[in-house]
Amino acid sequence: MSNPNDLCPKPRSRVSAMKEYHPPLGNRDALRLDFNENTLACSPMVREVLSRISTGDLTRYPEREPVEAIVASHLGVSPQQVVLTNGVDEAIHVLFETFLDAGDELLLPVPTYTMYEVYASATDAGVVTVQAEGDLQFPFDRLLAAVTPRTKLIAIANPNSPSGSVAKREQLLEIARCAPHAVVLVDEAYFHFHGETVMDQVGSTPNLVVARTFSKAYGLAGLRVGLLAGSLQLISWVRRVLSPYSVNSIALACLPAALEDDAYLDWYVGEVLQARREFEAALDAAGLRRWPSSANFVLVDVGECHREFTERMRNAGVLVRDRSSDPGCGGCVRITIGTREQMRHAAAALESALADLRPGRKKI
Ligand SMILES: Cc1ncc(COP(=O)(O)O)c(C=O)c1O
Repeated sequence: MSNPNDLCPKPRSRVSAMKEYHPPLGNRDALRLDFNENTLACSPMVREVLSRISTGDLTRYPEREPVEAIVASHLGVSPQQVVLTNGVDEAIHVLFETFLDAGDELLLPVPTYTMYEVYASATDAGVVTVQAEGDLQFPFDRLLAAVTPRTKLIAIANPNSPSGSVAKREQLLEIARCAPHAVVLVDEAYFHFHGETVMDQVGSTPNLVVARTFSKAYGLAGLRVGLLAGSLQLISWVRRVLSPYSVNSIALACLPAALEDDAYLDWYVGEVLQARREFEAALDAAGLRRWPSSANFVLVDVGECHREFTERMRNAGVLVRDRSSDPGCGGCVRITIGTREQMRHAAAALESALADLRPGRKKI
């Protein structure tokens, strides 16, 4: 008997070559330091809006434009320069679909955010990577040297994940200047923990596009909202490809409240930055190699025992992310920074995991 799967029409060849991507989202009922989410909650003002959403609100198609105007005014750009998306992931996907053609190259400094390569692999473009040195600093000179006439898009997470390193504003603008034929995506998902931005340059630099998310500092990863800001022309091309309904009405209702509550955002970011300092000191005392971070996570080299370490942390109720297969990250785990209290708990779990895995090592 023939297998019904054999009769299924084949996808494009690039899609048949892809693997499904399943981030490890199962069994996360623990202290979640594995996805760089806000570890506490969103603003109470957002919760208040959520409590008022009616079933009537759900019967209507979501209307994005009025909220885009509020977001644009918050960012200091015109409403036509901003498009809201279903998380930055959709922004990346749509941007790549809009610009990457057969024969084009996507240029990526690596290690970096996994989804750039995933979405690029569904297009007909090639991916050119530039490996960071051992310090995992932004490889500015080598990235510039790798620009060719085929480079159509350059994607730079700033701060970068999983390293936590940053590119300087002048470096990003220099790249945009030196590659006027390429779209330069600066993904500022972790902007709030860093503070430096190129958002003010999106109107005057035609090939620059900035992404922001509400999944990290704002604590709204489950609502799925992100945005792209860029020149009028660039954003209007993106709008041609984007579904008009991809940001749902609950997310749209919550965004103005999230943006209004600066006090909550400032408090959460301040708490994370203090917790990061304390946690880094604990890592140093434990004699672990780590990389300086400008985001709400830190990359730590735990060595060959990375798998057992991750498992022991999980057994102690603390989820961390094994990044050892990222290029240049052998033996590394990435640990999200939450509140000081959460990170003291994480530091104690780390100490006991290391004591089991490396008997005889010095105590914190
Ligand atoms: C650099 C970077 N960009 C984008 C995202 C995804 O953001 P969103 O939840 O808005 O899709 C992440 C999530 O981890 C990230 O690290």
